[in-house]
Amino acid sequence: MNNLATILVQTYPRKVKLEDGTAITLRPLLKDDEQAFLAYFQSLAPEERVDLKEEVTDPKVIENWMETLDYDVMLPLVALHENRIVGAASLRFSLSAWTRHQGQVNLSTDPRYRAKGLGTLLIQNLEEVAVKVGLEQLTAEVPPELTKAFYLFEKLRFQKAAVLPGFVMDAAGHESDIVLMIKTLAPAGMAAA
Ligand SMILES: CC(C)(COP(=O)(O)OP(=O)(O)OC[C@H]1O[C@@H](n2cnc3c(N)ncnc32)[C@H](O)[C@@H]1OP(=O)(O)O)[C@@H](O)C(=O)NCCC(=O)NCCS
Repeated sequence: MNNLATILVQTYPRKVKLEDGTAITLRPLLKDDEQAFLAYFQSLAPEERVDLKEEVTDPKVIENWMETLDYDVMLPLVALHENRIVGAASLRFSLSAWTRHQGQVNLSTDPRYRAKGLGTLLIQNLEEVAVKVGLEQLTAEVPPELTKAFYLFEKLRFQKAAVLPGFVMDAAGHESDIVLMIKTLAPAGMAAA
């Protein structure tokens, strides 16, 4: 497996342009981003945060994330426009030996920056890192009501593998199904599947 830190240093910060020309910088989340990260999550509707599985609008939750920030466990990638976080995606590495070939992705973008290719760019970047570190599969857990996310992952060749009934429960006690989507990755140096 290639060294993750080396890959990140060689790749980021990376400047990209959205479909409308907006200049965006992509880079891993830093500890100094705590307040900006909290403000970002507050821009998302409650039903859009359900797959994050934690109350990310609670400052204590974000503080805890920052204290335990470890890219070898979970790599959060943020998109910045004019020093504001406008999108975030993460790649969680498996700690179990039997699923060590997998990484789990998660994604959201600021509603004001949607339908311009930002979500696609974030997942493509995580996929690039995943291939470089030698992962073979990416998984995404998508609540079925988040149809845009479902179409995005389908477009990026994730396949629906299973529906997990009542798999998550929000703060108010409402259960939601999860659609498990899986993408098999092409090894580094080969064309994408
Ligand atoms: C899903 C989400 C991340 C998409 O972000 P985005 O920045 O708009 O993504 P993109 O512009 O790259 O769109 C990619 C694809 O998503 C789908 N999509 C995006 N907006 C859509 C819309 N309004 N209607 C239908 N599909 C849409 C399309 O398949 C689109 O591909 P296309 O542009 O080639 O048609 C964003 O809507 C979001 O944050 N939603 C709430 C959180 C969420 O659903 N997270 C996913 C859980 S894992």
